[in-house]
Amino acid sequence: MARRIPEPFRIKMVEPIKQTTPEYRREALIAAGWNPFLLKGEDVYIDLLTDSGTGAMSDRQWAGLMLGDEAYAGSRNYFHLADTVRELFGYAHTIPTHQGRGAEQILFPELVKRCRGDKPLFLSNYHFDTTKAHVEIAGARAVNVLTEKALDTETPHDWKGDFDLERLERIVAAEGDNVAGIIVTITCNSAGGQPVAMGNIRAVSRLARARGIPVIIDAARFAENAWFIRERDADYAGHSLAAIAREMFGYGDVFTMSAKKDGLVNIGGLCCFREDEALFRAVQVRCVPMEGFVTYGGLAGRDMEALAIGLKEGLDADFLSYRIGQVAYLGERLRAGGVPIQTPTGGHAVFVDAKRMLPHIAPECFPAHALACELYLEGGVRAVEIGSLLLGRNPQTGQQEASPFELMRLTIPRRVYTNDHMDYIADCLIEVKRRAASIRGLDFDYEPPILRHFMARLRPL
Ligand code: F0G
Repeated sequence: MARRIPEPFRIKMVEPIKQTTPEYRREALIAAGWNPFLLKGEDVYIDLLTDSGTGAMSDRQWAGLMLGDEAYAGSRNYFHLADTVRELFGYAHTIPTHQGRGAEQILFPELVKRCRGDKPLFLSNYHFDTTKAHVEIAGARAVNVLTEKALDTETPHDWKGDFDLERLERIVAAEGDNVAGIIVTITCNSAGGQPVAMGNIRAVSRLARARGIPVIIDAARFAENAWFIRERDADYAGHSLAAIAREMFGYGDVFTMSAKKDGLVNIGGLCCFREDEALFRAVQVRCVPMEGFVTYGGLAGRDMEALAIGLKEGLDADFLSYRIGQVAYLGERLRAGGVPIQTPTGGHAVFVDAKRMLPHIAPECFPAHALACELYLEGGVRAVEIGSLLLGRNPQTGQQEASPFELMRLTIPRRVYTNDHMDYIADCLIEVKRRAASIRGLDFDYEPPILRHFMARLRPL
């Protein structure tokens, strides 16, 4: 048997987590309206709600916090951050933001303003939910052009985050000047943290450049994508992850980044421009009233220092092999226990296919959400639904949108849990699978009008 490589770090500080009884958890879930988002964090034993801002910083990052220069304008940490962005990604201009959606809210209105067509739209392999929301707030449409291969969770494919290039070409040709931008999400979160191939990013970029369409990289999990390219594309075997990242970003014009993922910080984001100074200036103007002055964008100086350090640590090959290996380990345990998952596993999470696990629950009764509730009741593990509940209703017709997926995401925070935790999670979910046939769907007690999954209150049918 291959020797398992343990975590590439030692634990220097610990945070106790609370075990609870099944009765306690049932009370807590009822009080939370059967919505794990409304649980108290303290009542969760292992929290897999998100990998966003939930990672552990390194000793160097904590040391960086002490070097915070809290000057309102021109903080030295801003310059360190901008230099790091230039070095890693080759982008000339940096605007820090409070998190990823901060970058989206100041960038998209400018791209819509520049769009020559009168029905602006953005194309993406898959818009993350806040990305879609900000596209729509800016008055544009969000169209996903993901490869069909991602929808078949049973059949492995190396690049389930890819664009369907033929469809993309067709839409670009038909829409002409209406295309305000193409957003390349690396890795593709909504499809299962699935990577986008370098060849696919290159092809998208060529198509866009031939027509003067800006390419925006949604770079939240850029390092994980770089790692997959090195593992799976023979042309990049033996390349450094830094060189791969540099090439990926070279195909974009702007990037937005939620730094709370591969940036390894608890808060922060970036909006950076490869060379378009006019666009950079225009977005800076929006930054001041929305995020804060252009050299801090909603962050403390110390946060920017931790991010400058985290961006480099996030690209470390040993760290990434451990991280993505841990996700694969959990996936392997679940598959061996007969739990249907998106295969192969992605960079940041295992996505359980609730359509296959709970076929008796209709989409409008939220099978993946029901599964997340059961997993919490079983073992105090908190997961999140990526399916019909998240997608919501068509704002014009009020009808439930048809979701391509009913997934439950087990999102693994960075450097936080060990493989013993993974074993516990797998044991709990395999136990839930044994009683799958008796699990019921849910209906609303309270359905918020937008982004309903966060605040909804439900009850089992
Ligand atoms: N883009 C992607 C691909 C994301 O996954 C996220 C956040 C954002 C943009 C927005 O960034 O949260 O910093 O404002 N994803 C988190 C998640 C919340 O749980 O997947 P943010």
